[in-house]
Amino acid sequence: MEQALTGGASPASGVRMLPTYVGSTPHGNEQGNFVVLELGASGASLRVLWVTLTGIKGQRVEPKSQEFVIPQEVVLGTGQQLFDFAARCLSEFLDAHSVGSQGLQLGFNFSFPCHQTSLDRSTLISWTKGFRCSGVEGQDVVQLLREAIQRQGGYSIEVVAVVNDTVGTMMGCEPAVGPCEIGLVVDTGTNACYMEEARHVAVLDEDRGRTCISIEWGSFNDDRALGPVLTTFDHALDHASLNPGAQRFEKMIGGLYLGELVRLVLVHLAQNRVLFGGYTSPALLSQGSILLEHVTEMEDPSSGVARVHAILQDLGLSPETSDAELVQRVCAAVCSRAAQLCAAALVAILSHLQHSREQQTLQVAVATGGRVLERHPRFQSILQETVTLLASECDVSFVPSVDGGGRGVAMVTAVAARLAYHRRLLEKTLAPFRLSCEQLAAVRTQMRDAMAKGLRGEPSSLRMLPTYIRATPDGSERGDFLALDLGGTNFRVLLVRVTEGGVQIINQIYSIPESVAQGSGQKLFDHIVDCIVDFQEKQGLRGQSLPLGFTFSFPCKQLGLDQGILLNWTKGFNASGCEGQDVVYLLREAIRRKQAMELNVVAIVNDTVGTMMSCGYEDPRCEMGLIVGTGTNACYMEELRNVAGVPGDSGHMCINMEWGAFGDDGSLGMLSTCFDEMVDQASINPGKQRFEKMISGMYLGEIVRHILLHLTSLGVLFRGQQTQRLQTRDIFKTKFLSEIESDSLALRQVRAILEDLGLSLTSDDALIVLEVCQAVSRRAAQLCGAGVAAVVEKIRENRGLEELTVSVGVDGTLYKVHPHFASLVAATVRELAPRCVVTFLQSEDGSGKGAALVTAVACRLARV
Ligand code: G6P
Ligand code: BGC
Ligand code: BGC
Repeated sequence: MEQALTGGASPASGVRMLPTYVGSTPHGNEQGNFVVLELGASGASLRVLWVTLTGIKGQRVEPKSQEFVIPQEVVLGTGQQLFDFAARCLSEFLDAHSVGSQGLQLGFNFSFPCHQTSLDRSTLISWTKGFRCSGVEGQDVVQLLREAIQRQGGYSIEVVAVVNDTVGTMMGCEPAVGPCEIGLVVDTGTNACYMEEARHVAVLDEDRGRTCISIEWGSFNDDRALGPVLTTFDHALDHASLNPGAQRFEKMIGGLYLGELVRLVLVHLAQNRVLFGGYTSPALLSQGSILLEHVTEMEDPSSGVARVHAILQDLGLSPETSDAELVQRVCAAVCSRAAQLCAAALVAILSHLQHSREQQTLQVAVATGGRVLERHPRFQSILQETVTLLASECDVSFVPSVDGGGRGVAMVTAVAARLAYHRRLLEKTLAPFRLSCEQLAAVRTQMRDAMAKGLRGEPSSLRMLPTYIRATPDGSERGDFLALDLGGTNFRVLLVRVTEGGVQIINQIYSIPESVAQGSGQKLFDHIVDCIVDFQEKQGLRGQSLPLGFTFSFPCKQLGLDQGILLNWTKGFNASGCEGQDVVYLLREAIRRKQAMELNVVAIVNDTVGTMMSCGYEDPRCEMGLIVGTGTNACYMEELRNVAGVPGDSGHMCINMEWGAFGDDGSLGMLSTCFDEMVDQASINPGKQRFEKMISGMYLGEIVRHILLHLTSLGVLFRGQQTQRLQTRDIFKTKFLSEIESDSLALRQVRAILEDLGLSLTSDDALIVLEVCQAVSRRAAQLCGAGVAAVVEKIRENRGLEELTVSVGVDGTLYKVHPHFASLVAATVRELAPRCVVTFLQSEDGSGKGAALVTAVACRLARV
């Protein structure tokens, strides 16, 4: 068991320890009407049940049920025959019981070893118990049943769960004390399941809670353990069976085999003249002529002897009384061994639970089911006595299942139905975030239109601002420069030394308190100058007049390299008295107020431009700058002839697109979701920066938070419990998306992040939160990719090239930190601009270096 749980199982040991995706014992509040289809629990028969769960503890409605015998040619036929037979029986039952034909939810009780990957997806490993339908092993049996129901027609039945009979038995029992945590079935076959600590199940990435494991102990065949107990009769039976070498443990316990074992022993004794005077009848010699029922009847303490005679006579024998007694003893021996072996296996579970729960005295209830346990006169008692013998310190109560697990299957189906319903609600909620290639291509085309309009100076949500940067650095720049970098997560002051050998940077990060970012402009620029002066003092630069480049990451209409009119604040900044002003003038005014006269502001650049220049210094093919951080934006080298309002029609001009505002004219309305509307309405600039609010770090966490609140209100998440914390604005940081989506982070860490937010959650909740994060970040990356595709296609067409090779300088925390963002952007660009070979260069030194390089170019040009 432990080997198989840790995934280190050697096939030799045989037990499979299969996860069933049943994560909890019944809550008792499951309710609804369910169809249950049972296949394989009790031999070549199939049972259909109609189970009503009241959701009220102890209030039970007797299930309606009907049994159908499966013809042998079907049991040994094709899988399609078997599942069509099942679908016909279903219809027959539903016709007979008029329970409606629409929206029926079915739980499939399929009692064979299966690899389950969810409550409604299960692949058959191998047939047991005399079944051998072709074309089913290795297949998803739920899919096979769905197809058969489809072929049958007449009823809309949704198969929402597949359950092993042991699980149904465990889930269906209602012991006086505490839930049953072990399910034991001894019918034609035998098996058990139990509630294991999820952290012990290697295949389940879980660290909390319990999960139900189907042991499939029927295939236990560890030679060291079984070798000594296997008899020649067991080997003979196995040899003649449909699956020699398989299910060796089951073949010593299961009802399908007990009769045959007895027969083989009787034949042996007869052939050795111990029984029936050495006479063997053809019937006695024919395989399968003694059934479980016969053995059970022959062992019946009251009518056993009479039955022995009757049964042996039916087999063409004329038993003496002594023969009858001996036959009873053979039955007793075979069945006692079966019960004792079953008990030994059960004790293995008990000691494992004792050990894993560190409990000296384990108290546990075992739900039992199956005709051997229900009908054999002594099996149950021998089982219990042996368990008490082998596990005296355990307090084990046995709870016979009342309806063969039908209710239990219905309970699992109820849970699965709830999860399936939640899944549909989740899909419905996330569907608007799943953008098709057509939708992304439409965004690319719309952005192209808006670019063209903006360049022509016509009304457009893309302002396409000329930056007066005509060239990227040519490497001849030299000197020391001060640079400021305002507008990202951090405000930095940098000293940039540009030499033959390259660029050295010393920088210091300063904070911009929200009160300053949203206070007066004068306070903001005074604060900036204070930081510069502090930096100069620390770097021993006071009194030195170094040219200064100012990365100002907000939309500015530049009138020159050192003149930029702030059009509007973004990203949570809102300092008064700045919009419409030349921010270089505002800085110079602050410098004057602070008498820091040696500061010489030479250039103001946008962070996209600084990033392009910084990367262009290493790679001259870098002609686009992209920021995906707190905000998002892009710039690129446009043909001057295409830039209205700037004289000249040869050469290039770097254009700051300010694409964060793309869609502010409503052109992105078709993509905007109610969650985007909520984030926009709650922002300090509603209606503005709509593209940015779907993409950048300042907003993704908020979009996710609103979706989580919505899903909680639908009961899909956190059992519908809204928590105060989650209703707190900005409490779900965008960095959580990067953490939660990181491949190396197991679900348990996802849980840790969310528990820090005061959320108590299940593993299903953690999975759903992960999916929400993935949907939101994927859309952001794809929209960003559609924007980049529009720009590189523009550059390619500008130059009339069949194919364009270009590099894009990128910066921004979201792009750099998120585990999948960059690759999703690149994949979208490949899809939407297949004739452009685009290399994304992550800027190492930020755009401060770029600002210094722009200043260096300006100084070089000023010297000629
Ligand atoms: C870098 C650049 C800044 C830019 C920022 C954007 O730090 O140097 O100029 O504004 O990236 O990213 P962020 O995630 O900080 O907003
Ligand atoms: C199957 C199990 C089942 C058991 C009892 C075995 O043959 O492999 O899945 O639980 O029979 O029906
Ligand atoms: C600003 C841009 C800036 C971008 C990235 C946006 O909010 O409007 O100017 O480039 O954020 O920082």
